[in-house]
Amino acid sequence: MILVTGGTGFIGSHTCVELLNAGYEVVVIDNLMNSKAESLDAVKEITGKSCTFYKVDINDEAGLREVFSKHTFECVIHFAGLKAVGESCQKPHFYYSNNISGTLTLLKVMNEFGCKGIVFSSSATVYGNNNEPPFTEDMPTSCTNPYGWTKLMQEQMLTDIALADKDMRVVLLRYFNPIGAHPSGLIGENPNGIPNNLVPYICKVAIGQLPYLNVYGNDYDTVDGTGVRDYIHVVDLAKGHLAALKYLEKNTGVLTVNLGTGNGYSVLQVVDAYAKASGKEIPVNIAPRRQGDIASGYANASKAYEKLGWKAELGIDEMCRDAWNYASKKM
Ligand code: NAD
Ligand code: UFG
Repeated sequence: MILVTGGTGFIGSHTCVELLNAGYEVVVIDNLMNSKAESLDAVKEITGKSCTFYKVDINDEAGLREVFSKHTFECVIHFAGLKAVGESCQKPHFYYSNNISGTLTLLKVMNEFGCKGIVFSSSATVYGNNNEPPFTEDMPTSCTNPYGWTKLMQEQMLTDIALADKDMRVVLLRYFNPIGAHPSGLIGENPNGIPNNLVPYICKVAIGQLPYLNVYGNDYDTVDGTGVRDYIHVVDLAKGHLAALKYLEKNTGVLTVNLGTGNGYSVLQVVDAYAKASGKEIPVNIAPRRQGDIASGYANASKAYEKLGWKAELGIDEMCRDAWNYASKKM
């Protein structure tokens, strides 16, 4: 049985689909701070199977104990956390408290109940702004915002705990830019308010909720001057977690792995691919660079293939097709 924290969220719900399809029993906890419990109804509609859900905060030690005393978990997939870079600069206390204290509480309860396996959602943001892409896992890490620091600190906490306890089994997954949605269009990413991230923003332009996309800078040293990122289909990303679980069946210690495609696309290339997939025009406005952005970031994805036997299968056209399918149905 697998415990999925943050399992009603964007990546968590897609991972629940893959877990259930692969025959795992799944328990989800989430405080519903950034998602709705209904996403698990959609997961059931897609898979024909149910997860057990508890509305529990990872900072709630007693609540966690109750969940751990009802089930025996072979592993935890830990998605729960706050993820908005800009908000983390305005409310650092909130981010450190939720992400760091929450994870410490979770780890404490896992230890009490003898649960030694964890797959952790880290981020390519830990490569900071001083590395040249493609990013490899052994590059020096640094951060430019509190959100990023919470990821790096959690990586460190998990590493130290695994050093002290030789039975611990940890995979740190550094996600690049997850986009797209389940091909059913039943689950996807629908942030509240005006989206910060590129593809949710484009979706809102395509369905007419926003007039145009601001392109943050066209004077970077990239193929067309706009920022380059490694976009990865959320279904591929979800499958990466199953590969990590399989790895942990046989290995102790800590493994750090990039989950990306290894391919970079510029903002304007994504806009073109989305326009093609949706048949909608996406008007753009060239705006100043966004503070904290790097010119280009994409993965060296070879370690994931070597260690986990996983690689991304879906390309930018499928990502845009599925993002549009979800947007046109649900946004
Ligand atoms: P999401 O916001 O959709 O999912 C996170 C879930 O965690 C939400 O359902 C939220 O309600 C829940 N949550 C937050 N704090 C909680 C708490 N204290 N207790 C219980 N539940 C809590 O985000 P996502 O895009 O699915 O991201 C999942 C994880 O992946 C996060 O840790 C995020 O930082 C990480 N990540 C995301 C991206 C990305 O671009 N989406 C990139 C790199 C890493
Ligand atoms: N962009 C625009 N206009 C927008 C939004 C974004 O031009 O309205 C550009 C950005 O400048 C950047 C690219 O689109 O060049 C991607 O931006 P996103 O905000 O979608 O993604 P980031 O790469 O900035 O950050 C994301 C997550 C972080 C995570 C990081 C690495 O938001 O949490 O990927 O995983 F840390």
